Amino acid sequence: MKHPDEPAPVDRETARVRGIYETMAPGYDRMIAVAERLLFGDGRQWACTQASGHVLEVAVGTGRNLDQYPPEVQLSGIELSPAMLARAQARAASLPRTVDLRLGDAQQLSFPDATFDTVLATLTLCAIPDDHAAVREMARVLRPGGRLILLDHVASPNRAVRAAQRLLDPLLVRYEGEHLLREPDTAVSAAGLVIDELTRSKLGIVLRLTAHKPPFHDTRAPRPERRGRLERSGSDEH
Ligand SMILES: C[S@@+](CC[C@H](N)C(=O)[O-])C[C@H]1O[C@@H](n2cnc3c(N)ncnc32)[C@H](O)[C@@H]1O
Repeated sequence: MKHPDEPAPVDRETARVRGIYETMAPGYDRMIAVAERLLFGDGRQWACTQASGHVLEVAVGTGRNLDQYPPEVQLSGIELSPAMLARAQARAASLPRTVDLRLGDAQQLSFPDATFDTVLATLTLCAIPDDHAAVREMARVLRPGGRLILLDHVASPNRAVRAAQRLLDPLLVRYEGEHLLREPDTAVSAAGLVIDELTRSKLGIVLRLTAHKPPFHDTRAPRPERRGRLERSGSDEH
């Protein structure tokens, strides 16, 4: 019989991505440290220090954000890959806080509607097969007024950079499950959230985004027109 906490079965592409991260887990920290230096700067700190209340981190990976949260937040996290999750659990055990970390699929979260004050994801939507489904789930589990905080690498608005991303994307999706042409702001608006802040840096490749769930949340009323008004280029020092 299925245990109530057992994660739901996943589709084929999600299982393939899980396999990739099972293999990548031992070398992940070394590899991502390079990307953090080159691209993301203080992005983890920027994201985590804004979290408040009951927080869900989606796709915690090896738990590189765990020591960045304010001490007063109540922290939960899900992750698809058992090998990545085991590393996050080891990290959490060394911290002076309790963290509820479990296996889960971002595209079908096991939490009830309106559970969290903050949902946060770093370098995550680039790795999830159906990013729109994941953002819809993030919106669902946020309480009205709750905030979504995203840091990721995305499709660049710079034509030359985007052309290079288009060339590389099929290879990276195939071998690393990594998508270079994601547009999280479109997914966030389509999920009925209101974008509050959107900055890009590093030739438009790095996106920092915050949004909130309006009191009357309606996923049928995307507001993509907010993009133009809110978007500003961040400094490339990010
Ligand atoms: C590039 S890593 C980022 C990890 C972590 N968020 C960080 O900032 O270092 C992408 C992570 O997303 C996880 N992932 C991919 N698809 C997922 C899904 N459908 N549900 C939950 N986690 C997923 C992978 O297992 C991997 O740990």
